[in-house]
This record gives sequence, structure tokens and C-alpha cells, in this order.
Amino acid sequence: MRWLLRSRTVPVAIRNGSYNSFELRRSVMASCRAVLLPRFGGPEVLEVLENVNLPELNPNEVLVRTRAVSVNPLDTRMRSGYGRSLFEPLLPIIIGRDISGEVAALGSSVHSLSVGQEVFGALHPTAVRGTYADYAILAEDQLTVKPESISHVDASAIPFAALTAWRALRCTARIKQGQRLLVVGGGGAVGFSAIQLAVAVGCHVSTTCGGECIARILAAGAEQAVDYATEDYEASINGYFDAVLDTIGVTETERIGINLLKRGGHYMTLQGETASLTDRYGLAVGLPMSTAILLMKQVQYRYSHGIEYWWNYMRTDPEGLREIRRLSEVGKLKVPVDKTFPMKQVREAHGAKDKRLVPGKVVLEFD
Ligand SMILES: NC(=O)c1ccc[n+]([C@@H]2O[C@H](COP(=O)([O-])OP(=O)(O)OC[C@H]3O[C@@H](n4cnc5c(N)ncnc54)[C@H](OP(=O)(O)O)[C@@H]3O)[C@@H](O)[C@H]2O)c1
Repeated sequence: MRWLLRSRTVPVAIRNGSYNSFELRRSVMASCRAVLLPRFGGPEVLEVLENVNLPELNPNEVLVRTRAVSVNPLDTRMRSGYGRSLFEPLLPIIIGRDISGEVAALGSSVHSLSVGQEVFGALHPTAVRGTYADYAILAEDQLTVKPESISHVDASAIPFAALTAWRALRCTARIKQGQRLLVVGGGGAVGFSAIQLAVAVGCHVSTTCGGECIARILAAGAEQAVDYATEDYEASINGYFDAVLDTIGVTETERIGINLLKRGGHYMTLQGETASLTDRYGLAVGLPMSTAILLMKQVQYRYSHGIEYWWNYMRTDPEGLREIRRLSEVGKLKVPVDKTFPMKQVREAHGAKDKRLVPGKVVLEFD
């Protein structure tokens, strides 16, 4: 833990706010707690540590006083060892991608935000210093101003999931008004975000989901919602689609999704194999192997079905974040939060997700 615990100051430009650098340094250095992942394992490996120092801010970075972070599947998977080929040499690390909080300090080239503003945003999946900390560091373009109409808890549930959906729909499939989209797993955070983003564009959306989500999904504008647990959804889903976003990505959903596409349509799974292959075979073998497998599938499905096949990954995206902010401000993009935990109970929060005790989003609140 040496790299995190050694004493360092925080050279930052303080503008438009009531802080001075001495006050900031004192308050940050005295109170910065963080959840550390010292080794991979169950929820019990997570450690809440006091006095974890902050790295220096780069010119394009923003220091955010954390108010809420949501627990993403990536957080619990990283804790269990997913991405170990990348993260193991860097342990201990701070996990967490989503954040909602207040700007505490600005890097010298940041001009779009000011100290004290309420912001929300998300880190890239491969970021090493995550958001489970009293103070988190994000690049300027990974943050946007939080709408006043939503709480920090609700805001923290949105960005990572919605940016994942944005990337697939707007950057990969380039969905347009009037097109038909199928979301496999529309009850989850990414699936529900995708439904709302596509409805906002003017697409016709169908989805598979758990029965308890159907009313919420139809109210958000989907035209058809089929309960995957009780119905034969392959037979129940009407018509063919321009794009399929498969958040589940198992063999069966891949087969059904591809068969329901029009020629020229896009099949996008969130369960790409890059991380699992690099974890198993190392970066040097796993990366080229995953590229070869993806290419093979792309060629195969183009030939057999005339469709485009993709592994989609979350990317931070300033344009996407602006649109996500706009839609969430007017109530057209929400990710329902089922339960909150104080940050100190991070193990309980992860345990609840691992054991599927809480079906929807879990959020950690920072006091
Ligand atoms: N590639 C990337 O960059 C990326 C980014 C974000 C997320 N992901 C992955 O995408 C997945 C979804 O993420 P999320 O944040 O949306 O998770 P989430 O909020 O936990 O949602 C998962 C949803 O899937 C539903 N589900 C499970 N099996 C299903 C099936 N066979 N058919 C239809 N729905 C089914 C679950 O419903 P029930 O509770 O009823 O089972 C739940 O609502 C996770 O595996 C995550 O790791 C990947």
C-alpha cells in the first residue's frame, strides 16, 4: 500500500470557490477515506482505510468530493479477479466507476467547471484509481453538471450504465428515428438506459426482462416487454430488428438475438471475451487471441446472416454525457436505485449484490 499511503500534497488551481490551497490540503489530507482492494476475493477483502493520500492532479483533472457512488457489476467482478491480467500488478487499488459529488479543486487547464459545483460522471473501465473514496479524480470530460432535480444517489446510478448503452447504440449501431431495437435484459441498468436512450431518438423498442420490470419498461416507452423467465421469448417477440443490444450475452441470447436481426443489422453483446481471455492466457497471448475470435465471428455472421457482430465496451464520451445529463434533467433517463448503504458498509453492499439479495441498483452514500 506504500504508493497510496505516502504523504503528498495536492497542487491544484483553486478558482471560483471559497477554498484556499492550505484549507483544501488540510481537509483532504485529514479526511480522505477510501475503499481499498488489497487482493481479489469475496466482499470481505474490501478495506475502508483512513488517511489515504491523493495523487497530484494533472492539468485536465478534477478533484471531486464524493457524495454517492453506485455499485456496478464491474466493481464486484473486479473485486473477484476479473481483469486480473491488468489490475493484479497494481494492487492495492481503489475500485468504483460511477460518481456524484461536488467539485473540490481543478487542474490548471480545466475551464468548464468551478469549485463547489455539483457534478456526476464515470471513469473508464480500466481506470486504476476508482471512485470508492471521499475524494476521487476524474478527467474534465468524464464529468458534467448534475441536474438539480435529481439527488446524488440517483445521479450516481446513471453514468456508467448509460454511457455503455450510448456507446453501443449511438457509436456502434448509430440508431436512427424509426428503427427497431431489441434489448435483451431490459430490466438492468444498461438495458433500461438503452431503452430510454432509444425511445428518446424515436426508435421502436422491444425487450426481454424479468416480470417485475415490465410495467416500468412499458411506462418508459418500450412497445413490447417479454418476461424471459416465463415466456418463450424467441416466439413472443414481434418482427425483426435493426439492432440488438444483448446485455446477457450467453450462447442462447446470442443465437436468438442474431436470428431476430434484419440483414445489415447490428448485434452487440456486452460480454466480449477480451478480459476473460487475457486473464486466462496473459496479455501477450490473450489479446491477439480475443482479436482473432472477434474477427472470426464477424466474418462468420456477415457471411451466414448478413449482419454486423460486435463486442461492446463502455467508453467515457463527453457528447454522450451531455445527452445523458439533458435526458436525466427532464426525467427521461432514470436508473432506479433499490438500496443504499453507508460507505463504511461496502462489504454488505457487495455481499447484497453477490447474493442477488437486491435486484436493482445499490448505491454507497458518503457522509
Ligand atoms: N462491456 C462493458 O463495457 C459493460 C459495461 C457495463 C455492464 N456490462 C455487463 O453488462 C451486464 C449488465 O450490466 P447492468 O449494469 O445492466 O447489470 P444489472 O443492473 O445487474 O442488470 C442485469 C439484468 O439482467 C437481467 N437478466 C438476467 N438474465 C437475463 C436473461 N436471460 N434475459 C433477460 N434479462 C436477464 C436481470 O434480471 P433478473 O434480476 O430478473 O435476473 C437484471 O435485471 C453485466 O453482466 C455487466 O457486467 C458490460
